[in-house]
Formats: sequence, C-alpha cells, structure tokens
Amino acid sequence: TKDRNGIDQVVLRNPRGASAQVSLHGGQVLSWKTDRGEELLFTSSKAIFKPPTAVRGGIPICFPQFGNRGSLEQHGFARNKIWVIDDNAPPLHANDSDGKTYADLLFKLSQEDLKVWPHSFEFRLRVSLTADGYLTMISRIRNINCKPFSFSFAYHTYFSVSDISEVRVEGLETLDYLDNLYQRERFTEQGDALTFESEVDRVYLSSSDVIAVYDHEKKRTFVIRKDGLPDVVVWNPWEKKSKSMVDFGDEEYKQMLCVDGAAIEKPITLKPGEEWTGRLELSVMLST
Ligand code: BG6
Repeated sequence: TKDRNGIDQVVLRNPRGASAQVSLHGGQVLSWKTDRGEELLFTSSKAIFKPPTAVRGGIPICFPQFGNRGSLEQHGFARNKIWVIDDNAPPLHANDSDGKTYADLLFKLSQEDLKVWPHSFEFRLRVSLTADGYLTMISRIRNINCKPFSFSFAYHTYFSVSDISEVRVEGLETLDYLDNLYQRERFTEQGDALTFESEVDRVYLSSSDVIAVYDHEKKRTFVIRKDGLPDVVVWNPWEKKSKSMVDFGDEEYKQMLCVDGAAIEKPITLKPGEEWTGRLELSVMLST
C-alpha cells in the first residue's frame, strides 16, 4: 500500500488479526495493533508525513547518531531516507523466522549521501509479527567499506498511553543515567519504579534486557525485550516543550511515552566486513 505522499508501506497481519505497518520512509513502524484492533503506538495528530521530515510517532530509527551527539542532523539520517524492500535478505536463525509474518527492508547510502557520511554500510531491518502479536525488530548493520566506523542507535519507540501521570516504568531502578535536561550530567536513579510529573529526557545506562511500561488506567503492560542494546532512552516533552514542537499537539504529551532500546553511551564500532545486530521485541499484556 501507499501513504498519502505515495510512499510504499508494508502491512503485516498475523492469523489472529493483529497487524503492523512499516513505511519505506525511514524503515519506520507506524502502527502496531492488537487482534482487537487497538493501536499500541502513538502518532501525533500533527505528524508531518512528508520526507525528509521523520514522522512524529511510531518507531523512528535513530542511526548513525543519537540526538545531537555528533556532526550529523538530530538522531542521524536513517529516519529521513527512503529505504527499499530487501528481496534477498540473508537468512536469520529459525527462531527469527518461524511462525512469523515479516518484512525485510534495506537501507544504503547513495553516492551523494556518502559525501556527508563517508562510510558504506548495509542496514537490513526485519520487522515481524508473531502468532501472539509480538512486534519484533532486528537490525543488522554491516560495514562494507575498507575502514572502520562507529555509530549510535535507538529504536525511538512512541508508546501510546492513556494518561502519562498513571504510567510506571519498571526495570530502570538504581541505574545511572545521563540527563539531557542537565547537559548530560550523570545521575543515579532511586530504587522506585519511574513515574512522570514533568519533562524527562534521559539515557539510562547498561540496563537489563527486560523493561516494562505499565499503564494503570488501561491495565496494560508493554514488555520491552532487547538484545545488543544496553541503554534505554526515556523521553516525554511535557507541557512547555510540546508547545515548541510544530508536529506535536499541545496536550499530546499526556498520551505518549518514548522508551527506546538503544546503544548510545558506548558507540558501536564495526571493522571492515563486521556486522552488528540489535534486536527489540515488544509485547503487551492485559491484567485484570
Ligand atoms: C529524544 C531526545 O530522545 O528525542 C530529545 O533526547 C528530543 O531531546 C526527542 O527532543 C525528539 O527528537 P526529535 O528530533 O524527533 O524531535
């Protein structure tokens, strides 16, 4: 299918009717729905669907730079570019294919782009939906150049929540984090689950591979499982910053929370021919 700007999108549907939608613009997941048709990802009502602007919502991929830590544009260029369908993706483990419906995407830099970032790579992304409706993303980045390069990475996941003040994040207790609101100064988190009452813009360092986002009002828990992604970004713009973003509604901060599996503090370095893999698995549980 195509979106309103004629950009191709792939729709995945599992036998029970859960679905996901991936755009070739940025390899960005724009929708993830349960078998009851409930949307689990947030997209702003003011999102701009015109490349190169990244869509405000879903799961933009930040690569090869996170934030403004480097000379590239904010969050790198991957989310701004048009990717292609990867017709001959090298095989993955059976675990990563069996019983899943998936799409393989590929991103490479054009000759023109190589002037801005002189490192050739192949970025292969597999987005899958399991029989249980789990959304998994596997990124494989290979250095196909003759010199090493380094990058940082994040799956900038916008979860849809009913009311940010009723949300709790578990799995980041007692970790160190870099606070973007304080010049990336390093702090240590307290022992309690994270709750929200003002702007948050942090990178938690070296977390465990399972994080939970609990939405009390919806009685719903998102479970994030990650592999190869030591850090976790937590972002909510709150009131003031929301008003300064053109593609975000003034009140929408109440309905979203970004929690990203990421590799930021220690950039990944790939030697010629080397490949890196970063996996994310999202699931949702309803409690009674
Ligand atoms: C966060 C950054 O992860 O992403 C924030 O730490 C930033 O500082 C946010 O505002 C959104 O970034 P962007 O480029 O999509 O507006």
